[in-house]
Amino acid sequence: MKWVYIEDISKYVGKEVELRGWLHNKRSSGGIRFLLIRDGTGVIQGVASKKDTEKKSFSLINDLNQEASIVVKGKVREEKRSPIGFELTINSIQAIQNQKDYPITPKSHGVDFLLQNRHLWIRSKLQWAVLRVRAEIIRAVEDYLWNKGFLKLDAPIFTPSACEGTTTLFSADYFGEKAYLSQSGQLYNEATCMAFGRVYCFGPSLRAEKSKTRRHLTEFWQVEPEMAYAYLEDAIKLAEGMVEYTVHRVLKNRQRELDTLERDRNLLSSISAPFPRIRYEEAVKRVNELGESMKLGEDFGAPQETVLAESYDSPFMITHFPEDIKAFYMRKDLSTSGRTLSFDLLAPEGYGEIVGGGEREFDIERLRESIQQRNLPMEAFKWYLDLREYGSVPHAGFGLGIERIVAWICGVKHIRETIPFPRMLGRIYP
Ligand code: 4AD
Ligand code: MG
Repeated sequence: MKWVYIEDISKYVGKEVELRGWLHNKRSSGGIRFLLIRDGTGVIQGVASKKDTEKKSFSLINDLNQEASIVVKGKVREEKRSPIGFELTINSIQAIQNQKDYPITPKSHGVDFLLQNRHLWIRSKLQWAVLRVRAEIIRAVEDYLWNKGFLKLDAPIFTPSACEGTTTLFSADYFGEKAYLSQSGQLYNEATCMAFGRVYCFGPSLRAEKSKTRRHLTEFWQVEPEMAYAYLEDAIKLAEGMVEYTVHRVLKNRQRELDTLERDRNLLSSISAPFPRIRYEEAVKRVNELGESMKLGEDFGAPQETVLAESYDSPFMITHFPEDIKAFYMRKDLSTSGRTLSFDLLAPEGYGEIVGGGEREFDIERLRESIQQRNLPMEAFKWYLDLREYGSVPHAGFGLGIERIVAWICGVKHIRETIPFPRMLGRIYP
C-alpha cells in the first residue's frame, strides 16, 4: 500500500493509502470513532467503525492517547463538511508508540509553560500554521531576489567589530581574542556587492536586546540585499516589491494556514506597491498628533511606532532619519543637514518596522569621521575602509526581519511564536 502525505490526499480519492503520523485528537459517537490524524503536512479526520475497521485495530483505538505515533491504512473519500474536503475510512491502525500524559492538552496553557515546552508546542495547530507561513515567506523573499539576479553569499557570524552599535553586542572568546556575534551581515555584503554587483545574505542576527518587548528577539533572521551603483530610491523600490510579492505569494500558497490563524485575508490582498512615504519630521509630528509624545531628534520607541502603524492599513515608509539615531555607515543627506539617506518600512495594524536600510557612506573621509565620532576602533574597520579606497561607488541595501514580517502576515501579536525556537531575554531553553 502506498504511503502518502495528507497534503497530497486529493490525488487518492477512492484509493487505499497508508498515512504515517500522530494522533492529534479523538472522539467517539455511538459505535463510531473519529480520529484526527496529523502527519506534519496536514490534518485529516479518520473514521473507524465495526463495519470498516479490522477488529484488533478498532479496539486499539480506545487505548490510544494524544500524540501516539500511528500508521493508519484506509480509503480516501471526498467529504464536503471536512475543512480539507476529504476523510479517511480506516481499515487498520498500528501504534508505533503510545504513551500517556502528553503535556500539551487541548485545554489552554500559560505562555511560560508553552515556551518551556516549545519542542512539543510546535506540533499544535496554530504554531504549525505560523511556521508553515514562515517557510513560505523565506522561499518567497529568496525567489524574489534570485529572479532579480541577486547572488546569495553568506556573511560570517564571528566578527571583529560592531555593525549596529555597541550596546547590543554579544561577545565571544575567539581563541583568546575578543570576537563579536554578528548583528547584521551588511558590512560584508558591502564587500561582496563590489565583487558581484547584486548580492544578499540570509542568516541569524544576534543582539543583546535587554528589554522585553513583543517585537524583539536576541536571535532573529534577516534577509539583507545590497546593490552596487544604487541609491536610496533603488533600495526602497526593491523593499516594496519584495514585501508586495511575499504577501501575495503567501495568500496564494498558504491560504489554509491563514484561515487556521483566522487572518483577515482581505487586508492582505489589497496590499500593492508603491507604499506611502513620509519623512522623519512628518512622522514625529504625526506621532504627537496621535497622542504619543516624542521630540524631534529622538528615535521611535515601541508606543510611538505602534500608534503610527495603527494609523495605516498599508505598509508605509519613514525616510531621512537623523544621523544621531542611525548607525555609522549611513550616507549623509547632503541636501539636509543632520539627515541621512535612510528608510524604514513599517507594517500596518500596529506592527511597525519590518525593514531598515538606505544608502551607505562611500566617501572615505566622511566615513572615517563617522567612525571616529562614535569612538569605534578604526583598525577593526580597515578592511571596510578599503572598500572606499578601491573603486568606491554609491551603494544601498536593507535588512528585512523575517520574524517581524511573519508576525504581521500571520496576525500574530508576539514575535516569539514566529520562529521555531525563540531566544529572548531570560530564555535559552529548549
Ligand atoms: O534596522 P536594523 O537594525 O538594520 C540593520 O541591521 C541593517 N544593517 C540592515 C541592512 O541594511 N542590511 O534591522 C533590520 C531589521 C529590522 O527592520 C527588523 O525587521 C529586524 O531586522 N530586527 C529585529 N527583529 C527581531 N528582533 C530584533 N531584536 C530585531 N532587530 C531588528
Ligand atoms: Mg532599524
